[in-house]
Amino acid sequence: MDAIDAVLVDFGVTPLKIIAASATPFDPVLKQRIAALVDHAGSVALDELGQLDVALGSAFAGAANALLQTAALSPEAVTAIGSHGQTIRHRPDLPYPFTTQIGDPNTLAESTGITVVGDFRRRDVAAGGQGAPLLPVFHDQVFRSDGEDRAIVNLGGIGNVTILARGAPVTGFDTGPGNRLLDGWIAEHRGVDYDADGVWAATGTCDAALLGELLDEPYLALPPPKSTGRELFNLPWLRHTLGPSGRRPQDVQATLLEFTAATVADAVLRHAPGAALYVCGGGAHNRALLAAIARRVAPYPVASTTVLGLDPDYVEAVAFAWFAQRTLAGYCSSAASVTGARGARILGGIYRHA
Ligand SMILES: Nc1ncnc2c1ncn2[C@@H]1O[C@H](COP(=O)(O)OP(=O)(O)OP(=O)(O)O)[C@@H](O)[C@H]1O
Ligand SMILES: [Mg+2]
Repeated sequence: MDAIDAVLVDFGVTPLKIIAASATPFDPVLKQRIAALVDHAGSVALDELGQLDVALGSAFAGAANALLQTAALSPEAVTAIGSHGQTIRHRPDLPYPFTTQIGDPNTLAESTGITVVGDFRRRDVAAGGQGAPLLPVFHDQVFRSDGEDRAIVNLGGIGNVTILARGAPVTGFDTGPGNRLLDGWIAEHRGVDYDADGVWAATGTCDAALLGELLDEPYLALPPPKSTGRELFNLPWLRHTLGPSGRRPQDVQATLLEFTAATVADAVLRHAPGAALYVCGGGAHNRALLAAIARRVAPYPVASTTVLGLDPDYVEAVAFAWFAQRTLAGYCSSAASVTGARGARILGGIYRHA
């Protein structure tokens, strides 16, 4: 929810080429309304949900049209838009499991004049899967190596890992919080969106007892396939563990940084021992977080996906462009080995521009 990421990708060349890319910050009012929808789902009216769906589709179109202008291309030059949408609820655990992304693809198609592929997750959930993470199949396509086992870690709101072990099918799962808790805590105490480079966390001291309690969260010990969201890792969850203690806020931030690093490092050490670790997503810019992960997985190396040829800020957006291409070609792009579904599926719905 920090920005609308957009990339224009050419898949006609190998390796794929990013022609243009942008990150458009959300309009603050729109962002606040989406946050209210996500955090107070029980008290938001259906009319508000319906309108936000369309408002977001329209904002996505704005980002796509601006990108075309930057690249001096007309809509006819683009085969399709792959649009993940904004996740507002992810509940694969309920008796009638579901996951919901908004950002109306119909509005996006109408306002760009381009065919849209959207709604990528729900078919996998219908097939008995977690609907997440989806990125591993894309990572498998672009990051697999014959020379080393690799773990690709995406640090968005939630963290997820892809394991690319030589001679084995791709696996992956959500590790726990990515930036979500770090962002939430600093927003509450310092009024900023995120802890740039982990500088504020570095002014505090990790509280080992608190870290231990956070690591007791049962989700972390569950075997894959598994996925999570801000339904679990949120500030009320943190406050529940904190209790009425008088800890300094910067010490809590330092502890959250170690906690986030530990969830990632433990996942890699347990499921891909010896793998080289490559990081993408906005968290790849958090130097203190990367250093904490590196300390925990040493001597195995940690680097950004930049060294593999893909900017960490745009891996996700490129992935959904790739998924759109797969869907239009009639190929599956989920992996049962990742999500636990009954099988691989062609993902998403197609909203054709006539
Ligand atoms: N210099 C930096 N220092 C620390 N954190 C950073 C820095 N730059 C970006 N971030 C983090 O990256 C986040 C944005 O990352 P990203 O766009 O991958 O997350 P997201 O949009 O929530 O992703 P997702 O939808 O995959 O959950 C910011 O909210 C912030 O926490
Ligand atoms: Mg983002």
